[in-house]
Amino acid sequence: MDTLHALPLRKGWIYETVVCTFSGDTPHAAPFGVWTDDHTTLELDMYEGSETLANVLASRELVVAFPAAVTTLFEALFAPQRLSFGHAATVRAPTLDGAAATVELVVHDSAPTEDGTHVSALPRRTHVAGGEVTLLNRAEGLLLESLVLATRLENLGAAAVLPALAENLRVVRKVAPASAAEAALTELLSRRGARP
Ligand SMILES: Cc1cc2nc3c(=O)[nH]c(=O)nc-3n(C[C@H](O)[C@H](O)[C@H](O)COP(=O)(O)O)c2cc1C
Repeated sequence: MDTLHALPLRKGWIYETVVCTFSGDTPHAAPFGVWTDDHTTLELDMYEGSETLANVLASRELVVAFPAAVTTLFEALFAPQRLSFGHAATVRAPTLDGAAATVELVVHDSAPTEDGTHVSALPRRTHVAGGEVTLLNRAEGLLLESLVLATRLENLGAAAVLPALAENLRVVRKVAPASAAEAALTELLSRRGARP
């Protein structure tokens, strides 16, 4: 079994990916956040009603593609005809052309949650396309947007800005716990007189 050490995954951080499965014989792709707690299994929380979830539970196999650009997530949702696929080497699931990194996985465990299913999957093969891979995580974008919003505090008013900053901090804590982005956003909120 290949491990996830080939990827710069921080434990507990959530990375945005495209999960590729087969719907019948047709390649299917949709964005999902994934994380690892131990670099052995990859974890997903998948909401009920997802076609990807149904495919994963039926086949017990999937490909997680780490996209080279955020626009790939847009395409997966709104312009899937622009995506093209290849064949995985070790599982029956399509690979996504142009991905920065590809992990082929088999389902190790699945368990119902409040609003869907938690899936834990074991990597069979990890492939990194280029030299260094940059993974997508929402924290940096949220910090950037928060900084812009903070400069608008006087124009927009604290009642509009502070709840938005607090929400951004909530998400940053979820997707990048103990990150520099979390520390900066916490400091930003306390400097602006809000309880982080
Ligand atoms: C960046 C991003 C991350 C997402 N992460 C998840 C996730 O972790 N779990 C989930 O159930 N849906 C997630 N979604 C929503 C699914 O992509 C969306 O519901 C999609 O329509 C599911 O497609 P499907 O029904 O073809 O599986 C995410 C969407 C985006 C844009």
